[in-house]
Amino acid sequence: MSKLWGGRFSGGPAAALEALNASIGFDWRLAPYDLKASKAHARVLHRAGLLDESELDRMLEALDGLAVDVESGAFQGTVADEDVHTALERGLVERLGELGGKLRAGRSRNDQIATDLRLYCRDHARGLGADLADLVSALAEQAATVVDAPAPGMTHLQHAQPITLGHQLLAHAQGFIRDLERLWDWDKRAAVSPLGSGALSGSSLPLDPVAVAEELGFARPVANSLDGVSDRDFAAELLFVCSMIGIHLSRLGEEIILWSSQEFGWVTLDDAFSTGSSIMPQKKNPDVAELARGKSGRLVGNLTSLLVTLKGLPFTYNKDLQEDKEPVFDSLDNLALLLPAVTGMVETMRLNTEIPRAAAPKGFSLATEIADWLVRKGIPFRSAHEVAGACVAHCEERGIELHEIADADLAGISEHLDPSVKAVLDVDGALAARTTPGSTGPRAVADQLAQVRESVEAWRDWAAPN
Ligand code: ARG
Repeated sequence: MSKLWGGRFSGGPAAALEALNASIGFDWRLAPYDLKASKAHARVLHRAGLLDESELDRMLEALDGLAVDVESGAFQGTVADEDVHTALERGLVERLGELGGKLRAGRSRNDQIATDLRLYCRDHARGLGADLADLVSALAEQAATVVDAPAPGMTHLQHAQPITLGHQLLAHAQGFIRDLERLWDWDKRAAVSPLGSGALSGSSLPLDPVAVAEELGFARPVANSLDGVSDRDFAAELLFVCSMIGIHLSRLGEEIILWSSQEFGWVTLDDAFSTGSSIMPQKKNPDVAELARGKSGRLVGNLTSLLVTLKGLPFTYNKDLQEDKEPVFDSLDNLALLLPAVTGMVETMRLNTEIPRAAAPKGFSLATEIADWLVRKGIPFRSAHEVAGACVAHCEERGIELHEIADADLAGISEHLDPSVKAVLDVDGALAARTTPGSTGPRAVADQLAQVRESVEAWRDWAAPN
C-alpha cells in the first residue's frame, strides 16, 4: 500500500472512491517538477539539521535515479498510488527504505501540488511563447511580400477603404505580440513559491522557503501560507491568456477560410496544409484554419471551467482544486498542437495579389478620398461627406465607378468639384497618402514590419522551444 494517509482508517477505501479520487491519470506529467521540488526540500531539511550529510547525499541520489526512471518509463505511477506525490514517495521508499519516509517532514501534498503546477505552467508558458514568436515571424515574413499590395479594407465585411495586405497580416501579428506580453507579465506574478506553506499554516520545523524559492527559480516565497495552498489565480490567468490566443487564432483562421474560398481567391493554401474530401475529389479544405477557429471553444471552456471551480471555495485546500489541472493541460496541449500547424499554413500559403488589387477600389471604397480632397480645399467635412455621398449615388444610378464620373457631370453634383478630383481616385495614390505611424501606407507598413521583426527576436530570447 502506497497510501499516504492510512493511519487512522480501519478499512480500505471503496473502489468507487479510489476511482474518483485518483489524479494519477492526469497528474503524472508533473513528476519531473515534483522531483525537482523534492530535491530543494531535501536540502532545506538538511540545513535544518533534519537530514545528516550522508542522508542528504543518498536522498538526492535516489531522487536523481527516480527522475531518470520516470523519464525512461522504468518507474511509473499506478492507480493504487492515487497521485503523483504518492507514487514518487513509494519510489523513494523502494530505493531508500526508512530514509525515504523522511522527506515528507514539513511538507504536504497541498503545497507540493501548488508548487508543481506553477513550475509546470511557467515552463510551458515559455514553450507557448516560442510557438507564438514563430507564428508572428511567419505573419511578418508573409507581410513583407505584400507591403504595398492593395486590398479592400473592410468594416462590417463591406468594402470600406483600400488598405495594403501587409497591413492586415501585421494586424494579426499585433494580437499575438500582445499575447506574448501577457505571458511575460503573467510570469512575474506566477514566480512565487508555495513550498513551505505545508498543509496550510506553514511549519514548526526550521525550513527555509526563501532558499527553496531560489533553487526552483521563483522570485520569492508566498507571503501567506493559506493563500499559498489555495491560490490558483496563476492557472486561471494562464487559461485566460490561452483563451485570448485562441480568440486571435480564430480570427486569423476565419480570414484565411474566407480568403481561400472560391469567392475571394486571395490565398492558395499549400497542399501540405490542406485536406481533401472522401466523396468530392475536387475538394481542398482549409482544415487547419478551421481548427484554429474551432479550438477557441475548448480554450474558453477550460477557462470557464476553472473559474467556476474556484468560485466560492472556502480557504484553504479543498479537493475541488484537483480539478485545476486538466483544463490547464488541455489548453497548453492544444495550443502546442495548433500553433505549429497554423504557423506552417501561414508560412506556405501563397497570396494571390491580383484579385485583392482589382477588388480594392470596388464598392466606392475611394469615396473618403473625395471628402478629404474637399476638406483640403477648406470645405467642412460635414459638407464634404454629403458631396462624396452624392458622387456615390450618381455612380450607383449609372452603374459606374467613381473614377468613371464624366468630367462634365462633376460640377452638377457639387459646385466644389472639378476634374482635378480624379487625381485622388487612385488606389495606389490613396495608399501612399497614408503616411502617419500605424497607417496602411506602404512606408508606414514597412516601419511597422521592422518593429515587429525586432520584437520577435526579443520575445525569442524570453521564450524557450517546447
Ligand atoms: N491530487 C491532489 C490535487 O491534485 C494533490 C493534493 C492532495 N491534497 C489533499 N489534501 N488531499 O490537488
